[in-house]
Amino acid sequence: MTMKIIGTGSCLGDRLVTNQDLAQIVETSDEWISSRTGIKGRRLTTGPGTSEMAAEAARRACEDGGVRPEELDLILLATSTPENHFPNGACEVQAAIGAVNAAAFDISAACTGFVFAMQTAYSFIAAGIFQKILVIGADDLSKITDWTDRKTCILFGDGAGAVVVEKGEGDTFGQIMGSDGSRGHVLTCKARSGGNFLTGKGPEMGYIHMDGQEVFKFAVKKVPECVEQVLKRQQVQKEDIRYYILHQANERIIDAVAKRLKEPMEKFPMDIQDHGNTSAASIPILLDELNRHGRLASGDKLIMAGFGGGLTWGALLMEW
Ligand code: COA
Repeated sequence: MTMKIIGTGSCLGDRLVTNQDLAQIVETSDEWISSRTGIKGRRLTTGPGTSEMAAEAARRACEDGGVRPEELDLILLATSTPENHFPNGACEVQAAIGAVNAAAFDISAACTGFVFAMQTAYSFIAAGIFQKILVIGADDLSKITDWTDRKTCILFGDGAGAVVVEKGEGDTFGQIMGSDGSRGHVLTCKARSGGNFLTGKGPEMGYIHMDGQEVFKFAVKKVPECVEQVLKRQQVQKEDIRYYILHQANERIIDAVAKRLKEPMEKFPMDIQDHGNTSAASIPILLDELNRHGRLASGDKLIMAGFGGGLTWGALLMEW
């Protein structure tokens, strides 16, 4: 069996912030940011947080797929920036869109979150447990970004992307998931530390910390590796792949992956120049843009691949 995407939607932060805007708050320049990352601008949210953007993307995905929210039986929200420990963000989306028959929970795997959530959705469908699933990637990393740190603050944007999936005909679905907790320290954000009345320590929140070069090296090695693995496992040739929809973290990472895979850049659509790195949202936002611009045809074989904090990485192969 396979899993099909029947609708896509997305929602971006309400405010455009250009590289020139960032040069007003940290010592940087448009030239540095665009030549090192490919990013020209990003959308940050001044109002709606993760769950509101997620709910809007979800509404659009349901509308695109002709699905009534009551028909959904599961909502998976991949995010590292939920507004609450509980209720979880997926439950907030459920309430906002009126998906009264769905179970709902969040998945935390940083920028790989959407790929992991899609693989989770597939497993539920393959097991016959759920039929129609809403899978969302949403993050407002701007809220956990240190706006005095030029090494990280130039990278991120806010947004949400969603898809509705269900069982499909055929058997084109492959997945690779991986994690290496021993290298977690290269990309971190402390959610809460402190203690209880015995330790006398209060809660502390943290900001994103990153060893950029280590993350870069990890990405350009792991992404091609897991793409090759999923192709081999499914016995699909690279020539048969229409698009590689990669996590949008850095244009140079995408270039390097294309080179390692010996595949032409036309197969690697990008929107990083406009949105920056929107973490778990980047893959479904790009997918929605491809869909809405009519660039996907029935039967197109797609690879989605992500990497991020954890460290985590994953690739999936599916047919449009
Ligand atoms: N503007 C101007 N100069 C900057 C800067 C900025 N925004 N950020 C860093 N610099 C400076 C550094 O201080 C350093 O100066 P020095 O040589 O005087 O010490 C110099 O530029 C080079 O810094 P470096 O960190 O080596 O740059 P880089 O080429 O590795 O690029 C990243 C930095 C972050 C763009 C790159 O490492 C990267 O994209 N890594 C992956 C990050 C990622 O994708 N994270 C999310 C994963 S999901």
